[in-house]
Amino acid sequence: MTPHEVDWDALHGAAVEVSARAYVPYSRFPVGAAGLVDDGRVVRGCNVENAGYGVTLCAECGMVSDLVAGGGGRLLAVVCVDRDGRVITPCGRCRQLIWEHGGAACLLQTPRGVLPMDEVLPQAFGPEDLAAVES
Ligand code: THU
Repeated sequence: MTPHEVDWDALHGAAVEVSARAYVPYSRFPVGAAGLVDDGRVVRGCNVENAGYGVTLCAECGMVSDLVAGGGGRLLAVVCVDRDGRVITPCGRCRQLIWEHGGAACLLQTPRGVLPMDEVLPQAFGPEDLAAVES
């Protein structure tokens, strides 16, 4: 998929919409994440914090759960936004989550424009590294 084939406005809108449902009593920093799946679905998630701060679920965790619970598939494109709808880049852990379900070619909207995941998470560790040892 090329960046021009993605309806970025629709994905951005889905991320903004779901960010309004974030549970963020501690940080007051709502995040929304939306992903386009290879079957055309749009999956979404918002961050869900916890009194045990480290247990917080990032918005991307919710998005990946929505992906898998809804039947799986591959992420083609992802947008994450803050409370003002500004595009943010996923934290390191969430880049790894997106890598697992979208791989190197998954496109990510970033403050520096659309980038493929292998530029956002260079030399990523992934399923093929496990497979290389198994074989
Ligand atoms: N957060 C996300 O949901 N995704 C990210 O990629 C970055 C951080 C959340 C976690 C926490 O609830 C809040 O933003 C502040 O760190």
